[in-house]
Amino acid sequence: MKMKSIHLDDLQRTEKYFFMTSTIVPRPIAVVGTLNSNGTDNLAAFSYFNAVSTEPPCIMFSVTHSRNGKKDTLVNVERNKEFVIHIAQADQHQLVNDTSESLPYGTSEREKLGLTLTPSQWIKTPRVNEFKVAFECVLENLIDVGGNTVVFGRILGAHIDESLLLQDPATGNLIPRADSHRLNPLARMDRDYGRITSDLQKPEKSY
Ligand SMILES: Cc1cc2nc3c(=O)[nH]c(=O)nc-3n(C[C@H](O)[C@H](O)[C@H](O)COP(=O)(O)O)c2cc1C
Repeated sequence: MKMKSIHLDDLQRTEKYFFMTSTIVPRPIAVVGTLNSNGTDNLAAFSYFNAVSTEPPCIMFSVTHSRNGKKDTLVNVERNKEFVIHIAQADQHQLVNDTSESLPYGTSEREKLGLTLTPSQWIKTPRVNEFKVAFECVLENLIDVGGNTVVFGRILGAHIDESLLLQDPATGNLIPRADSHRLNPLARMDRDYGRITSDLQKPEKSY
């Protein structure tokens, strides 16, 4: 193995972006739903996204500020202190890509794409029906990192297609744990989209 050492300060901004997003893979994708000030809904994808703690059950996603300032998602999260995270499936890559078209504030990407809404149970922001997993979240914390704002959210409740849930082998009852293979989540690899197709390796001991 011949290693090449790269100091990140020696890279241009886009080179840093492509170096990180081509090596820190696969990245899960959050399709974040928020409410605009005029009552319409806003949808956008974020791949700087992950779970950060179990107790409390928290996730994060990072919003890079655009040339025009804060993205609509961040403006809405700051005002409403809540949002919905949807998990997309591998075959929804085009849809996810299209949610991220930059439309004028107050215009619904979801409506333009023909997606439908259901009222949420614990927050005001509705969820999108076409995604099989949705988390209703409240804002926990915001942290600025350079020209980005990292949003930390606490999951109040979730909605999941029952066909994705595992069964208790003893009773046959559904348990709150998904079959991740059946979920077949969409992942981001560099600028492409990927699916998890390989056989999973089961370690002798799980941590
Ligand atoms: C798959 C995917 C992942 C993305 N990940 C991020 C991200 O992590 N952070 C970010 O600021 N923008 C990300 N974007 C770009 C935003 O989705 C895009 O700027 C969007 O228009 C923001 O919408 P908004 O202004 O309605 O919030 C991503 C786009 C796509 C398609």
